[in-house]
Amino acid sequence: MYAVTVIPGTADSLRLVDNFPEPSPQEGPVLVETLSAGICGTDREIIDGAFGEAPPGSDTLVLGHESLGRVIEDPTGQLRAGDLIAGIVRHPDPVPCPNCAAREWDMCRNGLYTEHGIKARQGFARERWRTQPEFAVPLAPGLAEVGVLLEPASVVAKGWEHVDRIGARSVWRPRRVLVTGAGPIGLLAALLGQQRGLEVHVLDRAEVGHKPALVDRLGATYHAGPVMALDFEPDIVLECTGAPTVVIDVMDKVGRNGIVCLTGVSTGGRTIEIDAGALNHSLVLENNVVFGSVNANRRHWLQAAEALARADVGWLAGLITRREDLDHYAEAYEGQPDDIKVVLEFPAAR
Ligand code: BGC
Repeated sequence: MYAVTVIPGTADSLRLVDNFPEPSPQEGPVLVETLSAGICGTDREIIDGAFGEAPPGSDTLVLGHESLGRVIEDPTGQLRAGDLIAGIVRHPDPVPCPNCAAREWDMCRNGLYTEHGIKARQGFARERWRTQPEFAVPLAPGLAEVGVLLEPASVVAKGWEHVDRIGARSVWRPRRVLVTGAGPIGLLAALLGQQRGLEVHVLDRAEVGHKPALVDRLGATYHAGPVMALDFEPDIVLECTGAPTVVIDVMDKVGRNGIVCLTGVSTGGRTIEIDAGALNHSLVLENNVVFGSVNANRRHWLQAAEALARADVGWLAGLITRREDLDHYAEAYEGQPDDIKVVLEFPAAR
């Protein structure tokens, strides 16, 4: 069968192979046919050789951690043939650490977790894959065109859940949220903020194009320009750029008792000058919390599936700005200036 593979650590080893072995029953009883795989910055880092790990005993990693598929069979009877599902990316470490033992693998303590298409577990960018029922998340049939957004939505659902939990440390009536970055993560973060009834502001570099239009259609306010030029102090910031100056500026900008959730995976290697003492001064005197958030457990995937089901499907479809078939797999992984989410479509989607 077709699979998109790389040799981790070897730059430009991206290939579409046509003779990849069928998924082994050891991967789980649920057999799934792939409809599409979403592409993000993590895939590009793996292609560049900077990240990624093949499963034990193999030098090849199948890419793909953002999935949409249809169940072919589930002998356990928990899912039905034809069900639309997405596969959970992370699996608990085998020790397991206290968090993985509690099925909170997104908070794994020992780093021995595995991730489809990223770390020691084959990805979803192959025609068929297998998993356990616990790692398959059902999607409403109406989400057939956009269900591939569930993985980025799960990352955002976890960020929001942790904001709520941190907020519960005091009387917490947030009004305004600032989302920095209008890529897929930022736009989905804005959607969840809007669903919470908050006043949503989205900041990005783009001055024209899809991004301002999508923010507008959500009923949120778009800002192009620096964080420090904003004339308000947000109660919550969801930082989705990973850009060093933006990260530091939002810590400064957030209001009293404010919470900053960092979701952007920066590449590092660029230094900027900051007045650490002044920053500390404002964080302490304002009771601010800055925290990082990665990945998601099953609870967050279910929250995300609910959020997508409540959203306007037309708006969600607007986030997918390019769909490529397997003949154009290499183009799919090359970013273009106007891309928001690019999706690789498999033959079963046709
Ligand atoms: C994925 C997460 C994953 C992280 C680190 C991100 O792109 O969305 O699920 O945990 O990469 O590997």
